[in-house]
Amino acid sequence: MSGQLRHMLRDDDITHDEQLQILKLAMHFRKDRFYRRPFDGPQAVAVLFDKPSTRTRSSFSVGVAELGGYPLVIDKSGSQLGRGEPVADTARVLTRMTSAIVWRTFGQERVEEMAQYATIPVVNALTDQFHPCQVLADFLTIAQLRGGVDALAGTSIAYVGDAANNMANSYLLAGATAGMHVRVSGPNGYLPDAQIVEKAKVIAASTGGSILVTTEPAEAVSGTDCVFTDTWVSMGEEGEYAIRSKPFWKYQVNDGLMALAKPDALFQHCLPAYRGKEVTADVIDGPQSVVWDEAENRLHAQKALLTWLIGIQRGDESLLS
Ligand code: CP
Ligand code: NVA
Repeated sequence: MSGQLRHMLRDDDITHDEQLQILKLAMHFRKDRFYRRPFDGPQAVAVLFDKPSTRTRSSFSVGVAELGGYPLVIDKSGSQLGRGEPVADTARVLTRMTSAIVWRTFGQERVEEMAQYATIPVVNALTDQFHPCQVLADFLTIAQLRGGVDALAGTSIAYVGDAANNMANSYLLAGATAGMHVRVSGPNGYLPDAQIVEKAKVIAASTGGSILVTTEPAEAVSGTDCVFTDTWVSMGEEGEYAIRSKPFWKYQVNDGLMALAKPDALFQHCLPAYRGKEVTADVIDGPQSVVWDEAENRLHAQKALLTWLIGIQRGDESLLS
């Protein structure tokens, strides 16, 4: 197998089979934190943040260390990138010193540009448009608790709330890739971009999944296996707090909405959560909530993703399973 440079910039950068391969690898990392150590050396991985983070920062820092590497964590305030140094120049410099670049930033075009100039794998650690690492962890959580990775296809998932944000986009594309029945619900004005919905439908047609977008939260949640929500005010939108709260109340995940899902449905939230807004304390702190497993799974899923990307680049089959 010859080496190939791959990136994870959006959820549809990987195929159905590749997603399964990464999630199976993640299940191994769940059982054995030191299952593979592709960064033994230690080799460095650059982990860049233009926005705040708790889970992504800790899971990539700990994860890279457990893979035998050194996490070089750089915040916007402490980097020349944050002062406006070109993305391309940053990519060229980091390529000379590190084995992969992980970046949380604003526009998707920024990670795309980083990947264009880097000759090492680039991973999107959240942009305004997508959060693919989170959704890998979320699907790992379903696999962990509901019959393994091979049972993911055919599962139905519902996301309610701000359906125009990064999480909604990622559930659409990643869910379609997995062969899931993906239902997304939000108010008019906060629905996903038509191009993303169209792409998700094309993928779903090839995996046996399906896509539903609706303004009726009950339609999305009825009979579903897993309910997801996210904040109504994403990072960068804090100034819109007052106008954003009003249209979303109908989409709050509370006991009434959860009662429409399957009796054993899981509840997930990428966190941070705002109790009393997008989810009630009864739900997020209740028996159906699996948010702490979900948070832990960021670690296992991202270690698997990095190992897989490095395995592909090196042409090293032993890192892919
Ligand atoms: N879910 C998530 O990405 O959390 P952080 O913003 O804390 O990284
Ligand atoms: N949609 C949220 C996700 C946070 C992990 C945001 O972008 O702020």
